[in-house]
Amino acid sequence: MKMDRRQFLRDSATLAAAGVVAPQVLGAGEKATPAAAASNAAPAADGKLITSAPMLQNYAATSIGIAFSVSDMANGYADISERPDMSGARRVKCGGYRITDVNDKVMLVRITGLKPATKYYYRIGADHISYKGGYDMKVLGNEEDPRVYSFTTAGPGAQARFCVINDTHAKFDAFTKTIDKVASLAPSCLVWNGDATNVEENIDSQVRIFLNPPIDRPDYAAQLPVLFSPGNHDSRGMANRHIDRVLMFRQPEERSPRDWDLGRNFAVRMGDIAMIGLDTAEDKMDSNPIFAGLFNSAAYREAQAVWLADVLKRKEIAKAPFLVAFCHIPLFDPDPKMNPGDVAPADKDPQYTHDFAMWQRTCANLWTPLLQKAGCQLIITAHQHKYRFDAPDGTRKWAQMVGGGPNLTNETSFPTVIEGFVEGRQLKVRVHNVKTGGILDEKVFKAR
Ligand SMILES: [Fe+2]
Ligand SMILES: [Fe+2]
Repeated sequence: MKMDRRQFLRDSATLAAAGVVAPQVLGAGEKATPAAAASNAAPAADGKLITSAPMLQNYAATSIGIAFSVSDMANGYADISERPDMSGARRVKCGGYRITDVNDKVMLVRITGLKPATKYYYRIGADHISYKGGYDMKVLGNEEDPRVYSFTTAGPGAQARFCVINDTHAKFDAFTKTIDKVASLAPSCLVWNGDATNVEENIDSQVRIFLNPPIDRPDYAAQLPVLFSPGNHDSRGMANRHIDRVLMFRQPEERSPRDWDLGRNFAVRMGDIAMIGLDTAEDKMDSNPIFAGLFNSAAYREAQAVWLADVLKRKEIAKAPFLVAFCHIPLFDPDPKMNPGDVAPADKDPQYTHDFAMWQRTCANLWTPLLQKAGCQLIITAHQHKYRFDAPDGTRKWAQMVGGGPNLTNETSFPTVIEGFVEGRQLKVRVHNVKTGGILDEKVFKAR
């Protein structure tokens, strides 16, 4: 629905009368009051231009991504300040240089030049744009989310506490409980370890999954920065082939020009933990006829090995006491019946129970020697929809944790939240069973 200026002024007056224009500062994991939540969760039919809370993307030491959805042509922005009263705020518009990214779906704002381990406050807004041609563009009105949000950047001085979720698969009953658990643990960042989606053919379904989920805390990532490691499902469907319209690539200066297309990989220092994000890509061979030659996972995995060798040498990564890697498909499986993902041409072999990769031997061969040499203590994976811990053995020095599944009704594929934090020179990793609310497992790792 379009919103003219008079309508906007009426809405503003209504909001002011309702007393929700004053900034509301929320603590990590804190829920918005119903009045404030309603101001940005209202559907477009109510005349709202901004239709979601912001989502913080690509947790990093000196930059952050801010994404939110809109109901009509808009030119979004974020104001950012080091002070809760927003004094001295600077405004950053959506898009990059040359032009802003005016569109009617998702505003992606990239904030750069931040200080490590520093708390920032921010607010989002958007101009409502009438576009009738290259010389016929007008600002119809402006809308701002009245809330002031905050986040803290990464870096060696940041609090070392992560949470990992995985295989949420747009099952919102389980996602509600999973996010409630994450909020109660108040981590510094949330690693979403793939299969957030199923097969997504349009951007609206992606907006529903990432920016405006039908859960009790639709603002789950407004103050909690997300690191996303894609799963095999997150490349399926025409919209997922362009998932960067909803989930930004990482900042270019985080990688060399050679690694330009590796916008999903991360190497982030958070307190005493170095976190490495890898993308295992599809669980089927590029040669499988079902994919019609439309995937290029093999070259992607090799390029990531070259990137990985370099980032492991970076000072803030090499010197971190703890090195934890994250990827969606497991890099080890003790069961010889599990398909290792390298069965050409079409993944079928009677010795395996599934016709797709249950673990990824190609990625394991490319990446784990580098991780092992660097002293990686733990690799956290997903994909199998069943929690498992693989302790190190004589030759494999790293442990593997496989996160749970998306089902609240199933005995084995219940969701997990894997919480990692540093306490007394040790990395403690606690696995929460979202279905029961109890602690399922806890492991302790020594510094490397
Ligand atoms: Fe999955
Ligand atoms: Fe998967």
